[in-house]
Amino acid sequence: MFDPYSSEFLDDPYPTYARLREESPAFYDGTWELTFFTRHDDVTAILKDRDRFGRDFRHRLEPAEVDQDLYRRIYPPQWPTWARYIRESFIDLEPPRHTRLRRLVSKAFTRRSSEAFRPRLEGAAAGIVDKALESGTLDVIEDFATPIPVAMIAELMGLPARDHQQVLDWSHAIVKVFDQNVSDADGEAAESATKDFVAYLEEVVDMRRKNRGEDLISSMIDVEDAGDTLTDEEIVGTSILTLNAGHEATVHAIGNGLLALARDDAQYQRLHQAEARVETAVDELLRYDSPLQMFERWVLVDTEVAGVRLAKGSKVGLLFGSANHDPEVFGDPGSLDLARQPNPHVSFGAGLHYCVGAPLARVELEAAFGSFASRVAGIELREASGRIHSLVFRGLENLRVDIEAA
Ligand code: HEM
Repeated sequence: MFDPYSSEFLDDPYPTYARLREESPAFYDGTWELTFFTRHDDVTAILKDRDRFGRDFRHRLEPAEVDQDLYRRIYPPQWPTWARYIRESFIDLEPPRHTRLRRLVSKAFTRRSSEAFRPRLEGAAAGIVDKALESGTLDVIEDFATPIPVAMIAELMGLPARDHQQVLDWSHAIVKVFDQNVSDADGEAAESATKDFVAYLEEVVDMRRKNRGEDLISSMIDVEDAGDTLTDEEIVGTSILTLNAGHEATVHAIGNGLLALARDDAQYQRLHQAEARVETAVDELLRYDSPLQMFERWVLVDTEVAGVRLAKGSKVGLLFGSANHDPEVFGDPGSLDLARQPNPHVSFGAGLHYCVGAPLARVELEAAFGSFASRVAGIELREASGRIHSLVFRGLENLRVDIEAA
């Protein structure tokens, strides 16, 4: 019924989600040791319910009170550096630790508004599309979806171009361990990537202490809130979180979005002819095929949701891709409608952990799709292959399209 690594599901999970929402909207899966939720109202209610659910449990429960198998799966003791940096990054904390770090980091983030990135990102996207138009073919993941987020993150963090590939490789290795079917080799690669990444960032922080720039690391060194500042370890941890969170999801958002447009010329023409606004198109593309499909929460008290009992110390899995296709909330959810409004998708989450990078991600996606649509009159799909073997990330390794100049 639920086999998230089958090629059928990886290719198109939405028919399975439709069946699950109807037949068993909340169900326990023994392989994942999670109770999964598929409906939009349950997913959003759990995301917003701080009394009963949390990304962390340590503010409410003792370690001995949670399921020990689950704890070892999520923070594998054999990969201690990886586990420590994930567990201590603010996406995995709850108040008061989360409040303090998120406030300091948000202050550092907003020093330069997201809008400041727009011209540079539009220029990068336009340059890539113009070059591809010369040959008439665009290798979407390699040449479009990957370099745009890299240009943004690099500018945000102030990292030199020669280090980008290395940083991406570390980031890929680290996020691989968020899934359930992690091999020892992947775990060891993630552990050594974390160690190397930490050593690299410690040096960058050290250099920035001596010589501040316009980047987020310098802002994190300078940021102060009621006399409170960030430690070096917090700056390194937050930098790793930002680089991972800011990169992987955006690459797949661009890739999945272009695949959806290549498969639906009528909708693409609405964007190309500016009948649909790029802002609403971006929201719809994020809803239609979200790059992040599943997030977990700890259960903090014995409770019940949608008629299913949940034990304190267990975990739930929230299926964002399913929530985004719930017909109770979205009319004709399987159709792409680039002018869809309202569009209460959960692709950026909800509640306390709502994506802190959402304004930046929107600027990136608007720059990418806007620059593309103003230059390209038509798209033809050539190759879409190499589904990422993950329930958390949804994306392709290869996507090639033929494009025709406007
Ligand atoms: C299309 C791109 C993106 C998507 C779909 C996305 C999605 C999300 C989601 C769903 C969450 C909440 C996770 C949860 O509730 O468990 C989140 C949190 C977060 N995101 Fe994003 N994100 C994107 C881009 C970015 C970018 C560009 C950055 C940074 C530059 C970023 C930084 C973060 C951080 C730091 C958090 C943790 C917030 C917290 O725990 O308070 N994200 N993101």
